Amino acid sequence: MNVLGIETSCDETGIAIYNTNHGLLAHQIYSQIDLHAPFGGVVPELASRDHVGKLIPLLKQTLKAASLTLRDIDGIAYTKGPGLIGALLVGAMFGRSLAFSLNVPAIGVHHLEGHLLAAFLEKDATPTFPFLALLVSGGHTELVDVKALGDYAILGETLDDAVGEAFDKTAKLLGLAYPGGAQLAALAKDGNPSRFHFPRPMVDRAGLDFSFSGLKTYALRTVQDHQLDAQTKADIAYAFQKAIVDTLTIKTKRALLQTKYRSLVIAGGVGANVALREKLKELCEAEKCQCYFPSPIFCTDNGAMIAYAGAKRLLAGERDDLSVDVRPRWPLDEI
Ligand code: KG4
Ligand code: ZN
Repeated sequence: MNVLGIETSCDETGIAIYNTNHGLLAHQIYSQIDLHAPFGGVVPELASRDHVGKLIPLLKQTLKAASLTLRDIDGIAYTKGPGLIGALLVGAMFGRSLAFSLNVPAIGVHHLEGHLLAAFLEKDATPTFPFLALLVSGGHTELVDVKALGDYAILGETLDDAVGEAFDKTAKLLGLAYPGGAQLAALAKDGNPSRFHFPRPMVDRAGLDFSFSGLKTYALRTVQDHQLDAQTKADIAYAFQKAIVDTLTIKTKRALLQTKYRSLVIAGGVGANVALREKLKELCEAEKCQCYFPSPIFCTDNGAMIAYAGAKRLLAGERDDLSVDVRPRWPLDEI
């Protein structure tokens, strides 16, 4: 079965074709970063309009790369939520109408389920259920008990800013362009580890919730109190990233001990962060657990994870009716 995946929840247009016997056949991602960068964040209306223009060219490129035609598509999965309502509607209308015209089933997929299952796109080692997932993206920070396909319980989440959001806001303070997470990480490589020490929020409190807005304010005060030369920027980037990485690692360890799971999956855009990957690998070695990371290209938003999650649901016999329903707000445990 060839499943077409369509991702348009935010500022990436992603198209992919996943074959249920042979795996991922082809995928294309178009990022709108250059479009939104002058505004310092995503402008929803511009995002929707840009998805409209990119879907058909990307679909043609993906079909060509897979040496397939539209007639070879057996099912279509699109992101149903959470995300920007206009952007979601573009992908959902496109996917639902195309499925109708091809007379194949369609299924709306939860964006975060896509992220949680992205580790299954890897060719070598893939996780087995149940596992603990650390989901760290621009909009979400969650520790999730992934019991089985479609059976997810949120163990802890952020009470305010998502970790990617905190990265982006701090990067902005350092004069980096939106979204600055990866650039801040690059800057941190030149930082002096002993110059600044940032707090590790909420680690002395029981439970698995996070809070990152105080850390962002701490970064703001440090920026205001210093002359921002190149070395100081690198030192702040280092201290900020170290505080985030340590905080995520402390809570992840707590969740591993609580669930007694032996597998950890990292998902979402911040999962591409090298310092976080290294620290979590160390944690898993110490705790004798397996650690699974999607390739960096499948950590950020992409169509492949939607095609994969949709393929699993279509194989299980799930189908959407002809209505087009998107859910801009959609808690993961309400799937
Ligand atoms: O998963 P994603 O593509 O979009 C959402 O669903 O939110 O994540 C994007 C987020 C942005 O905040 C971006 O700055 C951050 O992931 N990010 C990083 C890195 N690469 C992307 N943050 C820190 N280090 C990175 N290497
Ligand atoms: Zn995402």
